[in-house]
Amino acid sequence: VTRIGVLTSGGDSPGMNAAVRAVVRTGLFHGLEVYGIMRGYSGMVEDDIFKMESRSVANIIQRGGTVLKTARCKEFFEYEGRKKAYENLKKRGINGLVVIGGDGSFNGALKFSQEFDIPCIGLPGTIDKDIAGTDFTIGFDTAVNTAVEAIDKIRDTADAHDRLFIIEVMGRDAGYIALHSGIATGAEHILIPERKTDIDAVVSSLQEKEKRKKLVNLIVVAEGDEFGGGEEVAKHVKAKLPNVDTRVCILGHIQRGGSPTCLDRLIASRMGYHAVESLMTNRYNVMVGIQNNKMHYTPLENAVKAKQKINEEWMKIVKILAS
Ligand code: F6P
Repeated sequence: VTRIGVLTSGGDSPGMNAAVRAVVRTGLFHGLEVYGIMRGYSGMVEDDIFKMESRSVANIIQRGGTVLKTARCKEFFEYEGRKKAYENLKKRGINGLVVIGGDGSFNGALKFSQEFDIPCIGLPGTIDKDIAGTDFTIGFDTAVNTAVEAIDKIRDTADAHDRLFIIEVMGRDAGYIALHSGIATGAEHILIPERKTDIDAVVSSLQEKEKRKKLVNLIVVAEGDEFGGGEEVAKHVKAKLPNVDTRVCILGHIQRGGSPTCLDRLIASRMGYHAVESLMTNRYNVMVGIQNNKMHYTPLENAVKAKQKINEEWMKIVKILAS
């Protein structure tokens, strides 16, 4: 490769900027030309592409969001859109592409790499941590720490009023934010899309706690749980426990913003560096991840199919520690 493009796509995540910076500077180090593509695949289709220098990524490692902006691009689902995108890369001589995003973005990269002669590298950028082949995704650590900070604050007010709080965190298909933030804040119950929840058992455990005057209870719910999020879970609970003072708090997009944690900056820098190294050594159409503290390369088709598995032991720990 001699000229590479870099884009961020799908939901933004804190640390994407650090990854862009690493791709640009590693590329320049190797004497490559590096092009920034705006708004994910939209910029590729609409020809919103610009040459980047070292200064283009100055002062961004600490910033949330993404300086390249992001989008979910409809045209790229169609062959015509992808062809247009290809032509826009080709006319600049761009012959390598780094896509920072989640599984939807990798699906696009996979199709694109199968149809056209542009080697692609995926970097896992999502707060959901729902991608196989990597122990970390860029943004998860920041998002989960934001959730923990918020839930700690909710605990203060819950304690002052002896209330039950049902807190909804992000995660349409994955329960990692709920699981990690719930364990870290001492939640009584954690409801995630990957597991069925016996709501009657949740209610009877709350009744039992009410009897022994344990009044502060936190339930953390992933937005994509089987009941459909915090408000729905609250309906079930309130119907059965009308005397318990219950409130719902939906954390929402606050979890997607903010300055990335040290861990997210580190993994983003490391993955960004290896994305370029990988292209330079002709290892492409893979997602660059980290497993057991080593770089791990997953073919794009596997990165989009499989999800991470919830460690069963955590569910047991939640039950034991919440008594
Ligand atoms: O995939 C990241 C994520 O934040 C999910 O947790 C959430 O369900 C979704 O994106 C929200 O998407 P949008 O910002 O488009 O509403």
